[in-house]
Amino acid sequence: MQTRIISWDKTEGYKPEDLRDAANILRDGGLVAFPTETVYGLGCNGLNEGAASKVYEAKGRPSDNPLILHIAEREELDELVKEIPESAEKLMDTFWPGPMTLIFRKSDRVPQAITGGLETVAIRMPAHTGARELIKAAGLPIAAPSANLSGRPSPTMAAHVIEDLDGRVDMIIDGGEVGIGYESTILDMTGLRPVILRPGFITREMIEGVIGTPGDEAIPEASEVSGDIVPKAPGMKYRHYAPEADLTVVRGDEEEVEKKIDELARQFPQDKVGILTTDERKDQYDYGVVLSIGSFKDNTLGHGLYGALREFDHLEVMHIFAETFYGNEQEDALMNRLMKAAGGQVIDLMDYHRVIFVCKENVTISPMAEWIMKSIVMDKSIEICSRGLVVLFSEPINQKIIDLLTSHSVPIEEQSSRLLREEDMDENTLVITMAFTEKVKVLEQFDQTEHVYTLREFVGLEDDVTDPYGGDESVYESLYIELKDLLYKMKKKLGWQ
Ligand code: TXA
Ligand code: MG
Repeated sequence: MQTRIISWDKTEGYKPEDLRDAANILRDGGLVAFPTETVYGLGCNGLNEGAASKVYEAKGRPSDNPLILHIAEREELDELVKEIPESAEKLMDTFWPGPMTLIFRKSDRVPQAITGGLETVAIRMPAHTGARELIKAAGLPIAAPSANLSGRPSPTMAAHVIEDLDGRVDMIIDGGEVGIGYESTILDMTGLRPVILRPGFITREMIEGVIGTPGDEAIPEASEVSGDIVPKAPGMKYRHYAPEADLTVVRGDEEEVEKKIDELARQFPQDKVGILTTDERKDQYDYGVVLSIGSFKDNTLGHGLYGALREFDHLEVMHIFAETFYGNEQEDALMNRLMKAAGGQVIDLMDYHRVIFVCKENVTISPMAEWIMKSIVMDKSIEICSRGLVVLFSEPINQKIIDLLTSHSVPIEEQSSRLLREEDMDENTLVITMAFTEKVKVLEQFDQTEHVYTLREFVGLEDDVTDPYGGDESVYESLYIELKDLLYKMKKKLGWQ
């Protein structure tokens, strides 16, 4: 098959005859790869079974892995789905057009060939003007998986699509480099509560900001819920985004990671080893092929991830060592993609078996952090405790905290405040203070100078945790929410179960 390549430009748009031809190909059941704000998609007529089977064939994709239907206007949704939950309306009002895919119960108009035999359908309204113009011109919902061969990183520029699909599709639209660089957030709206099936640019926090948290529970990610309770995105079970080279993620404190990666890299010839880092850190390395996934500034981290993985392949790198990319809004999405590319292969420099939460008196915030953390960490070999810096005589935990945690079903036992001592700490202990001044005190008073962080610093944020002293109930309530969020982040960063 001869693949025609046309272009779309931010200011010029399409040539009118190009757009017409592209729309005709789609209407006639052909395949057109096109840019969206997330990654390039491989589009076909979303109501045509024959067209869908061509997509599966061109990608080499298993046909039980359903496709996302792309629409240009909100009205087009109505005939594709059976019902629209109220929370979905709110999410669409806020995040459409944009990088968020919602799963609904499908109407009879949607063929099962598109949904991989499921009774549900995934729908997204992309923000990319060129993509929406194409959908409008075709006058159809466009089914589009990412425009890569199955098992390869998603394409973020036309060259990637050409590399994978030239000769296998009718047309490729070159719209330059995409903005985000990884696939949309997928949210299942068909259950009793929404579940994030795939993290993306639209984060759990943003979603909760719009629809709240159901009950007291954070909106879960599919990986956190057992498979029989919610359907997972069938696509998540296949090996994804994999580069040819062996990719290992190195987790730990920034400087230790850098040292370790350098040491590991030097075991291989300079041109056969890759290092995956960020714009901010790439100058720290002077050995190996160093590529960046983007910059922590301007929310662009991640736009270079898939391109870098492909580039390593071109250069025939044998081993890739990657830093972790925590401490930014999109960390869930980025680490999800990175871990998939690594097939879960991690070298962990953060081998902590004990964490001590520290505050001044060990009656309020640090016990609260201790008990919340105990309730979310499943690995019982990790010791979680709390201590104070100024404990003249032992006091019980603040009753307000006991009531608060109990009201949120966090188990908490009676305990008395205890002073932090030198013997509480060894080299496998992580010390987490609530405020910067407390961190300074720990560093001044003890020999221990490694592995001491403030809680917010540990997860890549600035400032101290809110001090609730003298505040009313609502202050304690929001402290609970703040702590829970930070502790989940901390747990993720540590790779704890
Ligand atoms: O950003 C994106 O979403 C891109 C662009 C092109 O829009 N598309 C994309 O499509 O990433 P794809 O096919 O590579 O990933 C779609 C994912 C798969 O993991 C699939 O299993 C899941 O969505 N999915 C589709 N329909 C579903 C359904 N009814 N229930 C559960 N998961 C579904
Ligand atoms: Mg894909």
